Amino acid sequence: MLDQITKVHDESRQGEAFAPAAIEPNTYSKKFYIESYGCAMNFNDSEIVASILNEEGFGSTRNMEEADLILVNTCSIREKAEQTVRNRLNEFKGAKKRNPGLLVGILGCMAERLKSKLLEEEKLVDMVVGPDAYRSLPALIAEAEGGQKAVNVLLSREETYGDISPVRLDNNGVTSFVSIMRGCNNMCTFCVVPFTRGRERSRDAHSVVREARELFENGYREVTLLGQNVDSYYWTNEAGDETVTFAMLLERVAQIDPLLRVRFSTSHPKDITDEVLHTMAKYENICNYIHLPLQSGSTRVLQLMNRTYTREWYMKKVDRIREILPDCGISTDIITGFCTETEEEHRETMEVMEYARYDLAYMYFYSERPGTLAARRYQDDIPEEVKKRRLAEIVELHRRHSLEGMQREVGRTYKVLVEGTSKRSAEELFGRNDQNKVIVFPKENYQKGDYVMVKVDSCTSGTLRGTAVSE
Ligand code: SAH
Ligand code: SF4
Ligand code: F3S
Repeated sequence: MLDQITKVHDESRQGEAFAPAAIEPNTYSKKFYIESYGCAMNFNDSEIVASILNEEGFGSTRNMEEADLILVNTCSIREKAEQTVRNRLNEFKGAKKRNPGLLVGILGCMAERLKSKLLEEEKLVDMVVGPDAYRSLPALIAEAEGGQKAVNVLLSREETYGDISPVRLDNNGVTSFVSIMRGCNNMCTFCVVPFTRGRERSRDAHSVVREARELFENGYREVTLLGQNVDSYYWTNEAGDETVTFAMLLERVAQIDPLLRVRFSTSHPKDITDEVLHTMAKYENICNYIHLPLQSGSTRVLQLMNRTYTREWYMKKVDRIREILPDCGISTDIITGFCTETEEEHRETMEVMEYARYDLAYMYFYSERPGTLAARRYQDDIPEEVKKRRLAEIVELHRRHSLEGMQREVGRTYKVLVEGTSKRSAEELFGRNDQNKVIVFPKENYQKGDYVMVKVDSCTSGTLRGTAVSE
């Protein structure tokens, strides 16, 4: 999916930064260059920003040197994510020297967390714009062009950008994100997101369906419904006579066309209901894939994290998923070395991994974030080398599970949605199966956007290889 994206770093889940393809540069009088870090929400927000800027006469460019405006959409999830951005800012200093009129703006979660402090700490920054303030970008740019530093970090209880059609930046023309909600009310103690993204709010269901339908009509074949916590989606219209839950929204999007695949990310285990699982089972085009962040396999640590479930409850949820959706792919997020975590509790995490046998896992060691509940309440007392050793252990365990999972696929046949040409060879295509596994196969006469039945012949730990078979 991120095939055409300029890869800059590998920090979080969708962990890649991109510079967009130029959009008809001649129709715009000025140019902006944008890089995005962090999660898919940020990538999608950059597409909203691109839409707002296009209206203002700014076209996007991939070439930083010809830009009038550089924007960095930032992530605060771990210290390293912020450091990556600060290092990148240093690299923009040369561009600013060569073009003194160049404006540099910081968007996203670091903007929200650090606010005007960022202007003091990073002298080259002209604008600081939080995730709910993108509509004010034209006014902020005007201010900055007038020589003022410009800041808007107001969080909103209503803003969903529901009426803005995102300009697709990473444009493979087949898969796309659609934001359905913003913010998070969960207050996991380790997490900065509730502070950087504000309160949870759900987007108008009709605008979600409209956007997904337009994508389908424009040739897209897969949408991923996005939110920090999608399964707590809950929208009521103004008259109060229409209420849409996440399961209902999933169903409405799935009904657009059987050829439109539907995915979603991310789900908090506490909110994945049977209603959602049954809706997934009912529609062939809702992909059998659930991201179910575990964080820790120890009930005591889960409590300290305020995750609201126990180890046993989580394992039962895994059982329930497998009962209703027997071939569902499950992925997870895990944090090692959270405050006071013991060796025994670390082993408990590995036991749950053995139980769930995740297809994919994003694993991190705990990084204390200023202002979070954990930073205020607990001591970050696990030495870094212990955190890293525990991380290495779970990474190794997961590597074994995912390789076993891939080996099990050899000999099976899957319906693959083709996303593009393989990076390795122009003679091969790549796509994903329902369970989100990447499959590479010889091109023959197939094209991007086709559904192809592919029999898996071999695998590595990350990729399945196969050949197209007739149905
Ligand atoms: N809303 C998403 C999480 C987004 S952040 C969800 O609940 O699934 C993605 C992942 O980053 C989290 O699931 C967690 O595993 C990790 N993470 C968040 N804060 C962290 C921190 N302070 N240190 C290390 N990892 C963290
Ligand atoms: Fe952070 Fe928890 Fe919200 Fe996810 S659910 S964004 S981990 S507070
Ligand atoms: Fe990072 Fe903000 Fe997303 S902190 S993970 S960009 S919500």
